[in-house]
Amino acid sequence: MTRRVLVTGGAGYIGSVVVEQLMAAGVGVVVLDDLSRGHRGAIPPGVEFVHGGVGEAEPLRRVFAAGPFDAVVHLAAFALVAELDQAAGASAGTGSSGRTSIAP
Ligand SMILES: NC(=O)c1ccc[n+]([C@@H]2O[C@H](COP(=O)([O-])OP(=O)(O)OC[C@H]3O[C@@H](n4cnc5c(N)ncnc54)[C@H](O)[C@@H]3O)[C@@H](O)[C@H]2O)c1
Repeated sequence: MTRRVLVTGGAGYIGSVVVEQLMAAGVGVVVLDDLSRGHRGAIPPGVEFVHGGVGEAEPLRRVFAAGPFDAVVHLAAFALVAELDQAAGASAGTGSSGRTSIAP
């Protein structure tokens, strides 16, 4: 049976490489990304892409409507340390609260 993995932040620097590696291993991949930092073109063809934030109900509904996942790789983040000082709330919302939205 084909495994399925959700990658949040899959259009980003680390996430896009994780997506490529999962696809090379024959895993079915769904990417959830709001494209606030990442690029649509970084997601390989054939990957199901849902545009939206990890804390947004409608994109999450679309993500999970397609069925369960074997694993979630949560890489959606504000990754630049300099941004953390300026947007600490948003950063925590994407990282820890966002993780709770996806896997309570
Ligand atoms: N880049 C590195 O060298 C490195 C090293 C160690 C750990 N990490 C960690 O890996 C994770 C990803 O880092 P990165 O370098 O790939 O960052 P990145 O900015 O390239 O990618 C983050 C992705 O998350 C998306 N995103 C941001 N907020 C979102 C939200 N609310 N909902 C959905 N998508 C959202 C962005 O659009 C982007 O595509 C971070 O947690 C970072 O701390 C990165």
